[in-house]
Amino acid sequence: MSGNFKEQFGHDIELIDREIGAFTPNVEAPLFYDPIRYMLNLKGKRIRPLLVLLCAEACAGKKENALAAAAAVELLHNFTLVHDDIMDQDDFRRGQLTVHKKWDISTAILAGDGLMGLAFQKLLESPVGDRAVMTARMVQTMIIICEGQALDKSFENQKLVSVEQYMDMIARKTAVLLELSCELGGLAAETDDKTIENLKKFGYHLGLGFQIQDDLLDIIAAENNLGKKIGSDLKMHKQTLLTIRLREKLRQPDFYDKDLETFKKLLHDTGVQGEIETEYKSQFRLAFAALECLPVTSQRDRLYSLAKMIENRTWR
Ligand code: IPE
Ligand code: IPE
Ligand code: MG
Ligand code: MG
Ligand code: MG
Repeated sequence: MSGNFKEQFGHDIELIDREIGAFTPNVEAPLFYDPIRYMLNLKGKRIRPLLVLLCAEACAGKKENALAAAAAVELLHNFTLVHDDIMDQDDFRRGQLTVHKKWDISTAILAGDGLMGLAFQKLLESPVGDRAVMTARMVQTMIIICEGQALDKSFENQKLVSVEQYMDMIARKTAVLLELSCELGGLAAETDDKTIENLKKFGYHLGLGFQIQDDLLDIIAAENNLGKKIGSDLKMHKQTLLTIRLREKLRQPDFYDKDLETFKKLLHDTGVQGEIETEYKSQFRLAFAALECLPVTSQRDRLYSLAKMIENRTWR
């Protein structure tokens, strides 16, 4: 993680980590709790919980009142990652072995289930805001994420996925969780409906931009910066904006016979890489436009700064 990021958000991340870790494992069930602890200690970027806290503060809410919701979205995110790594057959996450590689698949399925349970348990501890509304929104979001993951998986065997289908898939698997994070921040600050709509729009476009960028980083990033194996999407025959645009340009059905270096060179030489950068940046622009609708405060500046660091990231 870049030094600048730590400097600006390190204190918030400490609060988030304390909140995430605040549950008492049953010592008689280490096979359930050890992998959960392992996953939570791997230290992701904590983008989603940061969004909850910063959005709450940008709406004049108190950070303490948003901490439960912040921890809840991170726990839910970690559940999706543990299961995603089984689905994508990935061996590394956050620079370490994935849960199903360190233990085994059954243990990882259970750890994911547990993280999901802990997420809802944590959300129900929210001191401010309508807990029934918050929980209903998180349930709805979780179901949409599973739909997105199902689409992503089924596209592995589909040749002619369109840009619209791809955008719908990443909206479901990724953008809705960033959208929810921003919304929960607003709800924990008991802000008005109009502001909630702007927060959701901000999170949603940030999420779309983030996933398009993730798909590009999967190919072009330096492995030790990403903490995951590069080329994983190519290996799994994933449909991404990269493969779709390249297919359109070269009128070639797929690129699965290409090795990573050849694929990288194709992306570069055809100009598709540049086009994809433009496309994710345009999503970030839509996110920034939504942010402009919030009152001008130093908290809003911090949200802007977080989004900007994500847009420029090359790190995990
Ligand atoms: C990974 O999310 C999954 C995607 C939606 C691309 P992050 O890149 O936020 O993962 P961590 O939590 O920082 O490890
Ligand atoms: C992740 O998409 C989406 C969810 C976990 C819901 P990816 O499969 O692209 O994420 P990474 O690249 O493994 O982090
Ligand atoms: Mg996946
Ligand atoms: Mg994956
Ligand atoms: Mg990816």
